[in-house]
Amino acid sequence: MKTKHNPYRSTATCRSFFQSLLFSAGAACLALVPFASAADKEMAAGQLVIHADQPGPVINKNIYGHFAEHLGHCIYEGIWVGEDSKIPNTRGIRNDVVAALKNLDIPVIRWPGGCFADEYHWKDGIGPREKRPSMINTHWGGVVETNAFGTHEFFDLCEMIGAEPCITGNVGSGSVQEMQEWVEYMTSDANSPMANLRRKNGRDKPWKLNYFGVGNESWGCGGSMRPEFYADQFRRYNTFVKNFSGNTIQRIACGPNSDDYNWTDVVMNIVGKRMNGLSLHYYTVLRKNWKDKGSATEFGESEWHDIMVQTLGMEDLIRKHSAIMDKHDPQKKVGLVVDEWGTWYNVEPGTNPGFLFQQNSLRDALVAGINLNIFNQHADRVSMANIAQTINVLQAMILTDGPKMILTPSYHVFEMYKVHQGATSLPTELTTPDYALDGTKVPAIHTSASRDKAGRIHVSLCNLDPNHPIKVECRLTGAAAQKISGRVLTAPAMNTHNTFDQPQAIQPAAFTDFSQQGDKITVTLPSKSVVVLEIQ
Ligand code: AHR
Repeated sequence: MKTKHNPYRSTATCRSFFQSLLFSAGAACLALVPFASAADKEMAAGQLVIHADQPGPVINKNIYGHFAEHLGHCIYEGIWVGEDSKIPNTRGIRNDVVAALKNLDIPVIRWPGGCFADEYHWKDGIGPREKRPSMINTHWGGVVETNAFGTHEFFDLCEMIGAEPCITGNVGSGSVQEMQEWVEYMTSDANSPMANLRRKNGRDKPWKLNYFGVGNESWGCGGSMRPEFYADQFRRYNTFVKNFSGNTIQRIACGPNSDDYNWTDVVMNIVGKRMNGLSLHYYTVLRKNWKDKGSATEFGESEWHDIMVQTLGMEDLIRKHSAIMDKHDPQKKVGLVVDEWGTWYNVEPGTNPGFLFQQNSLRDALVAGINLNIFNQHADRVSMANIAQTINVLQAMILTDGPKMILTPSYHVFEMYKVHQGATSLPTELTTPDYALDGTKVPAIHTSASRDKAGRIHVSLCNLDPNHPIKVECRLTGAAAQKISGRVLTAPAMNTHNTFDQPQAIQPAAFTDFSQQGDKITVTLPSKSVVVLEIQ
């Protein structure tokens, strides 16, 4: 299979991966790979050309964003334990989690939902905690929401980890006035009612707020709206999302549910450049079967392979939504904001079905690596992405159990890939063997490349094949490699995962399985692995 990732130079000669899957294996972009050399008959081989002389757009660092919702134990226990907790904390926020998140250089965190955002009333979450009213979290387990974690606590978290806030406002059950006042409360420096209320609650200076979502999943849990109705609602609510005191807000409209292309077309048409971003939600669900999403850790090769198929579907969605956006916005002023993505399995046995708690294995690491590669490759349109979710929910970075905390394989991929944040994307041409199972093929290798401000080139490579290592011959055009180093994340079994008893069952290691001959770098990717190379 041969793929070019050069969306910026209109040389895309091959059909998308998904089309390739659906149509014939003999399609134009599928070429039989000259597999093994005479010297090495056993190992499959691929070729990669990295065009360092054809720089693409800058990879927006916000592609490495996060999503933290009032759902299960993401906020409560995962982040917020309260000032009186025995778990070491600063102003109620766990120190261990803050340290781990800081290490990811998280650029942006989206909060308070998700579905929760459209039933959240921000005034319940400010002022003395003992006086804050409670509510029922109707979407997520019907549990009592104490509102102990509110606006001030969220901004405190962002400041502690050095991330920018992205707030989602309530369109579904909130008023225009409520949304306008929240923005005033957060960002106004005037002698105004909401700014003075903020001061009374202990924060003198306004916060900086760059990103604001006008509703979440307004086609579903956010109000079951039609795109025409939502687009008008956006125009109305957005009118009152003001830029106070020199703060400028990038407005994110609710976008489509996975392949709802009509939603994108209608909202782009009616809202147009009143928005700065259009969101896209796409979850990796085993066989697209929402009724039985499979186990996060107990699976065989068929489930491994299908999760790869579903993950690669992101590429097709981004291409097709981008094509519609291009029609309305050829200058690409409106970003595609993939503000919910990741794996969604059945919850861990014995846990609250409304809490979406799942384990996280090497398979999820591959899902993270592939998605981040796709976002890097589409840096011309994708301006933000937010993994769902940061802690204890869905494809989490961190799992906690009381005072214990573990880092997941997905965390390690975010940490390895952080070198791409704000770097310049580099187009690649990849010839890859297939990884086929039961008549369905996926490319065995998946990649993206970038050059950072210091001139270092980073190449991330995923080997989707759980059974075979693959030799990749890499060539750089327009640059010469003086020094190469690498890191790898892999493990003996497909479902290897960290547990509270074995917190380091899977973690990154130094990668040395490469050699250089002139302008050729030969890399041997272990089966089921994520590798990041640094070339200087
Ligand atoms: O991430 C969990 C939920 O998935 C979010 O609340 C919602 O927006 C989506 O359906």
